[in-house]
Amino acid sequence: MSQKEIRINLGSSDCGPMNWINIDSDIRFYLMHHTITRGMLKSIVRLGVLKSGADDLLVPPPNFLYVDLSKGRLHFASNSVSYCYTSHFLEHLPRYRASRLMTEVYRVLKSGGRVRVVVPDLEAVARAYVQKKTQCETTNNNLLDFEYPNLATPAQKLNAYFSKFADPTPGTTGLRGTIKRVFQGFFGQSLGHHWLYDFEDLEDLLASAGFKDIRRESYGQGNFPDLCVLDIEGHRRESLYVEAEK
Ligand SMILES: C[S@@+](CC[C@H](N)C(=O)[O-])C[C@H]1O[C@@H](n2cnc3c(N)ncnc32)[C@H](O)[C@@H]1O
Repeated sequence: MSQKEIRINLGSSDCGPMNWINIDSDIRFYLMHHTITRGMLKSIVRLGVLKSGADDLLVPPPNFLYVDLSKGRLHFASNSVSYCYTSHFLEHLPRYRASRLMTEVYRVLKSGGRVRVVVPDLEAVARAYVQKKTQCETTNNNLLDFEYPNLATPAQKLNAYFSKFADPTPGTTGLRGTIKRVFQGFFGQSLGHHWLYDFEDLEDLLASAGFKDIRRESYGQGNFPDLCVLDIEGHRRESLYVEAEK
């Protein structure tokens, strides 16, 4: 990698490799980054106020930037970034915000720079549902069964998938619920899925932002660096992999 090459990873969570600028709005990373707030956060957890979800003290990835990406602003100069990777993040934004962000990604990428978008594949989920309904499964490897082995009907499984993480604080009330909501909502983090893409729709989103040569890729495959550390095996079954060029 050349000294000046900038690679960014949007919605990285803690899956941020070295040599990439890892960007996320998870408030825990922000708090864990600073000594005083790290101590405060640990005390809150010790008090037992945060019992699940928000109490995992995540270690920020290297080169971490705390940014609310729903605002559609990237603090990089135009034509300065070589690669933009984003995995299982875009579906957390309403489509119009995702569209604005992709236009911003286009702005900051150099000419010939590349974006790789990994999202849950709407078509794969829809196919899994229809296969369950029509009993015409060619495999017993149904995506919805894999995700929700304990739900009874295809409709329950499909609805569970669509509302995945829609309520970050199910059944949590009182002080604990309020703190979790503040953590997860107030600082811009969106855990709910807003929009699911199939290839055609993601292609439309990227083309509208100005991208060309939009191609479907697959797990670990593509014209992109560091895929062995960027693509996550756990997302493989349900994901759509798309690359495009500025
Ligand atoms: C499902 S995780 C994906 C993490 C990782 N990239 C992966 O592939 O497993 C979604 C990430 O998007 C982040 N996120 C959600 N809304 C965001 C926003 N508005 N700005 C920045 N990051 C956001 C969350 O904090 C979370 O870390």
